[in-house]
Amino acid sequence: MKQPDLATIKSEALSAIAAVKTETELRAIQVKYLGRKGSVTEILRQIGGLPEAKRARAGATANALRNQVGQAIAAAGQRLRQESLKPGGSQARLDLTVPTKLTFGHLHPISRMIQEILAVFQQMGYEIIDGPEVETEWYNFESLLVYADHPARDMQDTFYLEKGNLPRTHTSGVQVRYMEAHQPPIRILSPGKVFRNEDEDPRHTWMFHQIEGLVVDEGIRLSDLKGTLLTMMRGILTPDTEIRLRPNYFPYTEPSVELDATCIICHGKGCKTCSGTGWIELGGAGMVHPQVFHNVGIDPTIFSGFAFGFGPERIASIKYQVPDLREFWRPNLRFLEQF
Ligand code: PHE
Repeated sequence: MKQPDLATIKSEALSAIAAVKTETELRAIQVKYLGRKGSVTEILRQIGGLPEAKRARAGATANALRNQVGQAIAAAGQRLRQESLKPGGSQARLDLTVPTKLTFGHLHPISRMIQEILAVFQQMGYEIIDGPEVETEWYNFESLLVYADHPARDMQDTFYLEKGNLPRTHTSGVQVRYMEAHQPPIRILSPGKVFRNEDEDPRHTWMFHQIEGLVVDEGIRLSDLKGTLLTMMRGILTPDTEIRLRPNYFPYTEPSVELDATCIICHGKGCKTCSGTGWIELGGAGMVHPQVFHNVGIDPTIFSGFAFGFGPERIASIKYQVPDLREFWRPNLRFLEQF
């Protein structure tokens, strides 16, 4: 039998292996060269019949060929398996058990501030209620005695919608809605977004949050309002917080007050945050105006009540030392991830 040329077998085998595309092709190549009737196997078998003098050398060469072809086949098998596991490959799988490092998001700092505030009031037995973000002029203004020509409308200009609707400028409309549907005793808190036509600057944004409070019962007095505001501020800020009420004007409360709390940064000593005064302004409040009670069908000769409204952004900006409120509403993860 004519001896096949070892060098030819080698180059044919190696180029066939290099070009192989599938495991089936690769197995066929293995059979062709290294199988029982494969050409390399055949050569090895014939070594025994060679003359003594040639046998050792021919044996060594043939064994080296068998090892080379065997290694090339193993490497090609490895390559095919890896390719098949890649995305789009025949063995590609989504392995949900592979350990991955998950990063979790967290509540927005303002959402968390609101939750902290709600928790303080829930301890005092307040019911948390929701109101619509798009309001009618009646609920947002008129029912609260802010008539069309009232100067107080200027401070709460907004974007008017069709049919007398508007994005609410404050949460006070919720008071009216709730009192229409419920008789006293009333003890509610209503957080939510409000919208105003503002020239944006570090302290003004066109959307921000308010938290509205309303308590109505027999014999509710201004001192109850003061005690409630003090308890709430001590719960939200620090236990040594003091408050003061300054006269103010809102059409729907009488008397009306502005709420200041001692600065949480300097505790009343005076610093940059509170402009050296020791006090920070946090919201408005007052005793519900008798005409508002008339508007909702509650008898002001029997019942009295107080209402207040304040901004969680303002408290958060002081607590977290964020001088520019606009930061809270920018899609800036480097800012938000700090909280
Ligand atoms: N609605 C008022 C504002 O937006 C705050 C307020 C609420 C005042 C309740 C009195 C009573 O400024």
